[in-house]
Amino acid sequence: MQNKYKVKKISLKTKYLEVYWQDKHVSKYHFLWLRDNCPTAFHKDTRMRSFNILSVTKKIRPIKYNFSSKNININWSENNHHSTYDLKWLRDNCYIEINSKSYSSPYTLWNKKKISNIKTLTFDYKKIISDEKIFLKWLNTLYSFGITIVSNAPTEKKSAFKILDLIGQYRETFFKTPFEVINIPKPNNQAYTADALVNHTDLPYYEYVPGYQFLHCLINEAEGGSSTAVDGFAVADFFKKNYLKKFKLLTNNDVVFKDNDYTQKNIRIQKSPIIKTNKNNDIEEVRINLGAMGTLDINPKIMNNFYEAYTLFYKQLHSKKFQIEFKLKTGDIFCFDNRRILHGRKKFDPNSGNRHLQGYYIERDEIKSKLNYLIKVKF
Ligand SMILES: [Fe+2]
Repeated sequence: MQNKYKVKKISLKTKYLEVYWQDKHVSKYHFLWLRDNCPTAFHKDTRMRSFNILSVTKKIRPIKYNFSSKNININWSENNHHSTYDLKWLRDNCYIEINSKSYSSPYTLWNKKKISNIKTLTFDYKKIISDEKIFLKWLNTLYSFGITIVSNAPTEKKSAFKILDLIGQYRETFFKTPFEVINIPKPNNQAYTADALVNHTDLPYYEYVPGYQFLHCLINEAEGGSSTAVDGFAVADFFKKNYLKKFKLLTNNDVVFKDNDYTQKNIRIQKSPIIKTNKNNDIEEVRINLGAMGTLDINPKIMNNFYEAYTLFYKQLHSKKFQIEFKLKTGDIFCFDNRRILHGRKKFDPNSGNRHLQGYYIERDEIKSKLNYLIKVKF
């Protein structure tokens, strides 16, 4: 096989350098891009970019260049600067190749059939904290499926901080960290009752909704109180494939989420679509919470159609096809992507035994950046 990291020929064009590789691929590297990415553009200790693009003009060009088996060398027309580029780095960052690749989602969508047993997504606490390979496997699963259970964790209050600290920073909210999921008199949230909770994502009235949620089960001896979970991305994808017009109603229109519970001197209001997509039209967020829904104020011409789309979507989010149900055990930590996975619980009988969970939030950024670090991602 011809070496993709070996150069056959270089040709100087008006605005870029054309590089012919031995595997017959041809790259184009624009002068400004090359100068901007000279290895000296980055501080050796901070690893931050220190080169300022304003220190050169748009007329900058190579006045001398050559290549070897390992590098391309350039003498620039400005500031008497010389650059040496590693061939492997150049080829790996060829933006013709990068842009020719089609988008592939990092997520594995699931329904009840796919996760027939939650044990397939369950990881042992001690193994996670003592074995980096298991830690990586757990984080990968959490990122891909959006849901895992960590079992056999300690059951002391606040002890789940340890596993969050392994990943990164936790996200603080007005519920404080950890927040207590226990039935209390005069509750300020439905979670603090013994009532059933329909499937929802938390805190939809924040502009930036917390990424992952970790629910640490300290005790669960009450009758009832099973947990439910649904992959909101899988349901949204099903909706996109089968009810495209309704899907677009949910991506193109804002609903109102609000919180004005009696304990706060804040009134939180946020308008957002229920489903958000990225530039590749892939689903990147599902935000839905019955208790936090404000009053719809969308265009009257589409109000009825919107309600039809919203109710059908909401129905699917509770369907037997998509929803899984399981009972958390003492020492379980139920971890899920709060901007993707809806969670809920069945009602429980507070007179039959104690039920106490402690909750934490941690951003997607923390999970992704730890994964990048562990797999030594190239960038
Ligand atoms: Fe919740």
